Amino acid sequence: MKKFLLGWFLGWLAIIAGAYLFVRSGHAPVATQSGPLPLETFFAKTALHAAVAPAARLKSPLPANSDNFFGGVMVYNHNCAFCHGEPNHPSQIAKGMFPPPPQLFNPDEMVTDDPVGITYWKVKNGIRLSGMPAFHAKLSEEQMWQVSLLLRNANKLPPAVEAALK
Ligand code: HEC
Repeated sequence: MKKFLLGWFLGWLAIIAGAYLFVRSGHAPVATQSGPLPLETFFAKTALHAAVAPAARLKSPLPANSDNFFGGVMVYNHNCAFCHGEPNHPSQIAKGMFPPPPQLFNPDEMVTDDPVGITYWKVKNGIRLSGMPAFHAKLSEEQMWQVSLLLRNANKLPPAVEAALK
């Protein structure tokens, strides 16, 4: 039993020392062009999904109508388009970021399938170590819901709203 415990302890020590040496050697990916570490994406996505899941129950206090979409456009153009792009105009800055900000008006990257409460949570609280800021100090509750409603409906916006995004 003693030998087993010693082996177990030395095994863990070797793993921790190896990880420390890897980081100290300068080989850990820190530039935005470097790819993710093994399992990095899995752990980051799993942690985010688990933390955000309860927000799916949040109901928007505002209706999804043109007034609120236009309010969302004002918020989006000033605070988000820089990283998340506009319809048919992907952000150039996004290409230099890791993880890259999804282009929220590109049909393949939209968050139209996410409950609006999930998007509101991300806008309000941000996503640590990703470049996605928290907007609770910058935007009002109304503005955060308006931009969340806009993104939830990004694939079926009235043409006038879509035109205002450009
Ligand atoms: C400085 C760049 C930057 C700005 C400005 C920014 N974001 Fe983000 N955003 C990101 C990044 C990077 C991610 C990806 C995070 C990840 O992969 O976990 C992200 C993720 C998101 C997501 C989750 C997307 C998904 O697929 O689940 C939403 C929603 C979002 N942002 C909305 C917004 C809104 C709304 C604004 C403006 C109020 C905004 N962001 C401003 C960088 C930014």
